[in-house]
Amino acid sequence: MSGGDHVHPAATRQGKARVGILISGAGSNMAAIIEAAKATDYPADVALVISNNPEAPGLALARAAAVEALAIDHRPFGKDRHAHELAIDSALRTHGVEVVVLAGYMRILTAHLVRAWEGRMLNIHPSLLPKYPGLDTHARAIAAGDAEAGCTVHLVTEGVDEGPVLGQARVPVEAGDTPETLSARVRVAEHRLYPEALAAFIRQRKTAPV
Ligand code: GRF
Repeated sequence: MSGGDHVHPAATRQGKARVGILISGAGSNMAAIIEAAKATDYPADVALVISNNPEAPGLALARAAAVEALAIDHRPFGKDRHAHELAIDSALRTHGVEVVVLAGYMRILTAHLVRAWEGRMLNIHPSLLPKYPGLDTHARAIAAGDAEAGCTVHLVTEGVDEGPVLGQARVPVEAGDTPETLSARVRVAEHRLYPEALAAFIRQRKTAPV
């Protein structure tokens, strides 16, 4: 499957990649990308936001920014994660999405969706990967006595938090930090890193399509 399979006519006209963002909660990274995409020279438009959680505050944030936002609740699908992902995949394709951005999407994807978007799906993780994949990254960095922490934007592969790194941002761990204070410092770095790494990825992809 080539990257050109999902080029929407509008994207071709404007020369901007159509991005779909998957969220589950606050959506602060999503909001940072929507904000960055307002710049005329930003290489992407946010075509669609999808949340598996209908109560996610990020849905209202997206709509307030005039971005289409859908809740595709996982609960009616029960244990059938594949069927839930097919509904997500279908919405992404209907909206002409070319690049998928995971931004606090709190469900582990099945290999089906990962393979369908291979090379075109990004995630942000709140640690300096390969350190601390998985949960509780800030508590683990503090417990290890690390001098610095940070965040990583990477391509999504079947291994959780394992894909090729596209960018990292570092922050100091300060004396007396709690997971909450460190998380707040890292989050500020995330909001700078994610829009930049996404833009760089899309610009690079135009010259060397996957
Ligand atoms: C961020 O810490 C991100 O690194 C992780 O989930 C959190 C999402 O926060 N993957 P938000 O919903 O973008 O505010």
